[in-house]
Amino acid sequence: MNTREITVTVNGKQVTETVETRILLADFIRDQLNLTGTHLGCEHGVCGACTVLVDGKAARSCLMLAVQADGCTIETVESLASEDGSLHPLQQAFSDNHALQCGFCTPGFLMTLVDFLNENPSPSETEIREAISGNLCRCTGYANIVKAVEQASRTLAGQGE
Ligand code: FES
Ligand code: FES
Repeated sequence: MNTREITVTVNGKQVTETVETRILLADFIRDQLNLTGTHLGCEHGVCGACTVLVDGKAARSCLMLAVQADGCTIETVESLASEDGSLHPLQQAFSDNHALQCGFCTPGFLMTLVDFLNENPSPSETEIREAISGNLCRCTGYANIVKAVEQASRTLAGQGE
């Protein structure tokens, strides 16, 4: 078994771990760091459930090896809520707008949308739909997800004033 030591900053905490060179970033996050909020659906880059932020950009953790993340900053869905339990505006908006049912896809949507709203704080509905086009949800029909993103963008704009 080939192994290598990697150092990554995950949700603000630096960790150094020995990993198998073939282990996926998604499996490293879930199985080695026990951050199971990141979900695995298709495991080949299609569903978006495994999306995390790598150096601030949304990335599919099933398409990266853990060793490729050496030296990177990673944020997972566990980073979104505050320590006092208050939800990130996107999480609150998903809850308020019934934008999740089973919730399996939700972590991937949230991390995709954190990156998206950083880049485009006041998106149109068309832009929101384009942004989530790589994330599959089997439950919601997407309409309430779009509404949630619109609410979150208004909330985040208010926070920035
Ligand atoms: S599990 Fe990574 S894109 Fe589906
Ligand atoms: S809420 Fe069930 S797959 Fe999206």
